[in-house]
Amino acid sequence: MTKIIAIAMQKGGVGKTTTTINLAAALGEMGYRVLAIDLDPQCNLTQHAGFDPDTLSPTIYDAFKSEIEGYESNVSSSIYQTDEKFHLLPAQAELSLIELSLINTLSRERVLTTILSSIVNQYDYIIIDCNPSLGLLVVNALTAASSVIIPIQTEYLAARGALMILSSIETVRRKKLNPNLRIEGILLTMADTRTTLTRDILAAIDNQYGDGIRIFEPIVKRSVRFAESAVAGQSIITYESDGQGADAYRRIAKQIVKGS
Ligand SMILES: Nc1ncnc2c1ncn2[C@@H]1O[C@H](COP(=O)(O)OP(=O)(O)O)[C@@H](O)[C@H]1O
Ligand SMILES: [Mg+2]
Repeated sequence: MTKIIAIAMQKGGVGKTTTTINLAAALGEMGYRVLAIDLDPQCNLTQHAGFDPDTLSPTIYDAFKSEIEGYESNVSSSIYQTDEKFHLLPAQAELSLIELSLINTLSRERVLTTILSSIVNQYDYIIIDCNPSLGLLVVNALTAASSVIIPIQTEYLAARGALMILSSIETVRRKKLNPNLRIEGILLTMADTRTTLTRDILAAIDNQYGDGIRIFEPIVKRSVRFAESAVAGQSIITYESDGQGADAYRRIAKQIVKGS
């Protein structure tokens, strides 16, 4: 069974793209067949994986466009082998137009599910990097996914409405778009461990959102290596294979595989 994981959070700069590429690379390194999907018109994942979104064609934009216009999307032509052990379904800036076109599309929440249906069996894991919003592209990701990982900075968790994404997940379940959608867990990123008290955070989350949401261990510490790896167009798994960041994402990948 293919596991489709959406990396979603309405705030930008929390580590969604970093988590997507590094989990994809870590799962690929373990021997799984992995596809990473860039569902953000900012195309950060596409760049991070070493591609130029200004010249790359076709992309996921073409797949959405075909599907919305009533043609078959033929998504496999938009899938690329990266230099690492995962495939990429990249984005281009025009993907931002899709959010609007979707509004008047039949079954607008299920377009991504339809696009992926022809290739889903070719992968063990599909990781979807979402844009920082609660719009229709994110709803498409949540509808297609089996589970969600929510990356967030520890310091931000206390903010009002920090986890608004949880309401979107609840809506997708309640409207029967994806009643079985699971929350894989909350991933604390860019942590400054000296100020991070995981137990307090856990208690606060339980308090505010109810029991049963896992916080991944380890939390991902702040390191300048992540930004460097993005510039180099590589995952941290390749860029600094024996570093702390690579180790953290490998351990999180193992927990995802174990499913506990
Ligand atoms: N653990 C980390 N420590 C330091 N910087 C990080 C870490 N994770 C990500 N970054 C950097 O923070 C910025 C935002 O991360 P990104 O993954 O692009 O967030 P999002 O996709 O949620 O907008 C990027 O420049 C990235 O390289
Ligand atoms: Mg991003």
